Amino acid sequence: MDGNGRWARRQGKPRIEGHKAGAESVRRIVEACSEFGVRYLTLYAFSTENWRRPPREVAELMRLLERFLAERLEDLERHDIRLNAIGELERLPLPVRRGLSRVMEATRDNSSGVLTLALSYGSRAEIASAARRLAEDVAKGVLSPEQIDEEALAARLYTADLPDPDLVIRTAGEMRLSNFLLWQASYAEIWVTDKTWPEFDADLFRQALDDYGRRERRFGKVPNA
Ligand code: FPP
Repeated sequence: MDGNGRWARRQGKPRIEGHKAGAESVRRIVEACSEFGVRYLTLYAFSTENWRRPPREVAELMRLLERFLAERLEDLERHDIRLNAIGELERLPLPVRRGLSRVMEATRDNSSGVLTLALSYGSRAEIASAARRLAEDVAKGVLSPEQIDEEALAARLYTADLPDPDLVIRTAGEMRLSNFLLWQASYAEIWVTDKTWPEFDADLFRQALDDYGRRERRFGKVPNA
């Protein structure tokens, strides 16, 4: 969800106003997912690297998250969406963890869609943690080294119960994955727009989905094989 800061600067506003507008975009795009039939949406809301931002910006982002969790439960219920979170959640402030637990618990039986918030998330840390868990299972004798394959590792990622993403959308013209779902996005299509995240709306989302629909996904095979 890139470009909140740039959007704010262009408007002559403080960065936090960009994040507030970004949270409004989140609300719109969650709605659009229901309308377009997108069952899984994963938002990179806060990376492990984002902890290095000025403490005031981090605190404001955490407050926005807290507010989002307090205010959006109704929308999630209305659209039958389950909330999920991935990342080093134990690093989040207590009110955010409480809000997450409350909304995740309240929506646990919803089955039309899954909204996953990546919070304090970094893909390399996730893969390292999965490798650690594999090593622990080998040390305990419940797994042999020969049994370690792609499936065994994927089962130990935060995303074990989610399908791999089909499409990764990046806003504000960034052409990087920035430590987001590196393992899971191996065969994902990437779609980049110059528009910032606060400008990202249902029309642009529809355009991304239409473009995605025209792509030929070969997964390493020859065309039409
Ligand atoms: C990147 O833009 C955005 C973030 C680091 C935070 C994203 C957070 C939100 C959209 C609001 C809270 C989230 C939810 C789920 C309610 P940037 O600040 O790096 O912008 P820049 O690249 O233009 O500086």
